[in-house]
Amino acid sequence: MEKNIGRIKDTSLHSFVVSAEKAASWIQDGMTLGLSGFTRAGDAKAVPFALVERAKKDHFKVNIFTGASLGSDLDKVLSEAGIINKRLPFQADATMRKNINAANHLFVDQHLSQTAEMIRAGALPAIDFAIVEAVSITADGMIIPTTSVGNSLTFVSQAKNIIVEINLEHPESLEGLHDLYEPAEQGKREPIPLTKVDDRIGTVGIPFDLDKIKGIVFTKQADSPSTIIPPDHETGEIAEHLISFLREEVNVGRLTEKLAPIQAGIGSVANAVLHGMIDSEFKDLQVYSEVLQDSVFELIDIGKVNFASGCSITLSEEKMEQVYGDFDKYRDKLILRPQEITNHPEIIRRLGLISINTALEFDIYGNVNSTHVSGTKMMNGIGGSGDFARNARVAIFVTKSIAKGGNISSVVPFVAHVDHTEHDVDVVVTEQGYADLRGLAPRERAELIINNCVHPSYKEQLRTYYEEALTRGGQTPHVLEKAFSFHTNLANNGTMLEKVTVSL
Ligand code: COA
Repeated sequence: MEKNIGRIKDTSLHSFVVSAEKAASWIQDGMTLGLSGFTRAGDAKAVPFALVERAKKDHFKVNIFTGASLGSDLDKVLSEAGIINKRLPFQADATMRKNINAANHLFVDQHLSQTAEMIRAGALPAIDFAIVEAVSITADGMIIPTTSVGNSLTFVSQAKNIIVEINLEHPESLEGLHDLYEPAEQGKREPIPLTKVDDRIGTVGIPFDLDKIKGIVFTKQADSPSTIIPPDHETGEIAEHLISFLREEVNVGRLTEKLAPIQAGIGSVANAVLHGMIDSEFKDLQVYSEVLQDSVFELIDIGKVNFASGCSITLSEEKMEQVYGDFDKYRDKLILRPQEITNHPEIIRRLGLISINTALEFDIYGNVNSTHVSGTKMMNGIGGSGDFARNARVAIFVTKSIAKGGNISSVVPFVAHVDHTEHDVDVVVTEQGYADLRGLAPRERAELIINNCVHPSYKEQLRTYYEEALTRGGQTPHVLEKAFSFHTNLANNGTMLEKVTVSL
């Protein structure tokens, strides 16, 4: 590590270099840790892994707060080690999901813009240790983050102690990519001075209090590549319908071919939808999003996107090699910001974003469930989808019309858990088509959704439900005792279909 000490440019900090094991030994039972990391990018790796090792001998539990989901299987191993008391605000790991749903540890599913605000306000437990990954520490006292910013700025500003993990795998050339801005206390705050996607409003690194630095750890480990599945036939069709919707917006003059800054959520569907823009007529696009996935870089490569602002860069292995191998090509087209800023309602509304997120299911009136399978089991979390949907110019939700080989309809009479109410949802899209719900009354919404978005195998069943609901009347007609009939069919028969035809 001798030759790498130069990455700590403030020489007074050289004596703080310790091993990950030593740093992990400082963590006590009951503490709250603020870890860097956002959707598998820029997570602190060495100290959390050392904590997992320590758990083989010591009994302790901690609260783990992050930006979003962690990579390197960290959410898996932390969860398996049994050292988590409470996890927030987002995760996307199968093992952790299982442990959350088995109530082996607690999980708080939170709008991603709100964690920093709640920490500053003292509404969450105080951060005992901020553990953040960095490419370097500057001579003038700033931590230069790596491939994500997440909540690191607030963790560092609010923590009692700071541990920095300098990850040599990340090139120092990442310096200059970030824009760190933290709003002042509520009630004493000026407007956030960001009026354009490419505005820089803060510092290039995270300022810190020298007295809070407890240790600096050197590591060398790449981020985990993303696990998104490449576009398939259905996601391609979803993209086509979404592009038809946007084209219509251009035709009627509500948008130009530059569209408006685009936010696209996590996952395979959202990635495929952005990928679909490649062959579209839209140009000079801008992205103001949370996670910058492969598709954003593909759009930059072909000159369709001229600027992308995000909170993390999460790429497939292949794309990672290409992007970091030639980072200078992207340097003046990218900014990484704190999630509080990428997801800030004030900015989302000011910029007028087109926001595209994925639903697990939506109902005939446009309420969306993004998080709870069959209404009870946590999938990943709401992430930033609520920050964007409530405040976007156009809030679009996409999903395949069926899941699990057709046993699940993604359009149901009533969602079994509501993340985004009908008031926050403008357009819903499946591979069957889209429904533009803006300005429509509930009865108009139901007609359009059933006609345009439902899979043929569930159309009649939903129509029958809706017609019976109409006989009961009301602004938003329902047959309450049957409102969850699709979900109870699934629980009882393994399919939401009412009549199962058995072919012999
Ligand atoms: N009921 C049960 N399971 C369902 C379902 C439903 N209605 N709809 C989809 N699924 C399952 C799929 O079968 C798939 O299961 P598998 O992993 O066993 O194959 C899984 O959910 C993922 O679905 P997929 O169609 O591959 O979509 P995705 O990768 O795009 O993920 C979400 C979809 C909703 C889980 C994901 O986008 C998410 O967590 N969103 C919430 C957070 C968010 O929107 N953040 C955006 C701001 S960045």
